[in-house]
Amino acid sequence: MADFENVVVERSEAVLTLRVSRPKVLNALDPATLREIARVLRDVRRDGGVRALVVTGTGEKAFSAGADIKVMATMPPTEGHPYSRLGHEVLGRFEQLPIPVIAAVNGAALGGGLELALACDVIIAADTAKFGLPEITVGLIPGFGGTQRLALRVGLARARELIYLGTMIDADEAVRIGLVSRVVPAAQLTEEALGLAKQLAAKPPVALRQAKRATAAAAAALAEGLRYETDAFAVAFATEDRVEGMTAFVEKRAPVWKGR
Ligand code: CAA
Repeated sequence: MADFENVVVERSEAVLTLRVSRPKVLNALDPATLREIARVLRDVRRDGGVRALVVTGTGEKAFSAGADIKVMATMPPTEGHPYSRLGHEVLGRFEQLPIPVIAAVNGAALGGGLELALACDVIIAADTAKFGLPEITVGLIPGFGGTQRLALRVGLARARELIYLGTMIDADEAVRIGLVSRVVPAAQLTEEALGLAKQLAAKPPVALRQAKRATAAAAAALAEGLRYETDAFAVAFATEDRVEGMTAFVEKRAPVWKGR
């Protein structure tokens, strides 16, 4: 595997771990990090020996706190559409992999960070993890698939509540609503994730690949929904409120909404 700046890749037998690694900004996803993730997934595809993938974040605080707000704050209004498409393209690759992917959520999984976890087959969490789609608090909506994939996991009503309010839930609540499959003490998360990945890696590969393909067909309308999301994200991205929300985040103050 090539060298990366913002991700760390570790191999243990047939299991590969991809760690998002920008701890100073809570593993926020900027375009460069998304592109590095895409390169790792391309290498995984080429290496037929990898039978399961674990995705996690560096540090104890965050899995990923979402798309990089500091980078987005300076983007022109026209960047919303291409940025959302980049996120869809890269996160979609997790679903297209012919092997199971486990998100091991080691801290906050917010915005694009939760959207990254939602693109994985199974989400397991440390008891310290937090989940949310807080884009509304910076004048936006989820743009990396969250409006579609969260509703597919937890139902439309719960998804709307989380997206409209932008509130966070803890790991126990995440299990209760079906977002997360299991919660373990933080110190055991890596062992649990690798154990599950090794169990999956030992299954018959063709049957497992077909199981992934067939269960994905239950979300046959996903591609169309993602196109709607990109359009809606681009509208919110072009508002003065988005610039205000992100500037307020950077300046650590409350935003003042104008409705335009
Ligand atoms: N982008 C860029 N920088 C981020 C970030 C993000 N998403 N989240 C945190 N950081 C940075 C902070 O600005 C801070 O940097 P400085 O030290 O330079 O001030 C550093 O990481 C540590 O963060 P905090 O000081 O805020 O840590 P905290 O413990 O007080 O709070 C938190 C933690 C609740 C996760 C808080 O950081 C937070 O609310 N982050 C933003 C979460 C968010 O709104 N995510 C959605 C992003 S929009 C998106 O994802 C769009 C999309 O769908 C495509």
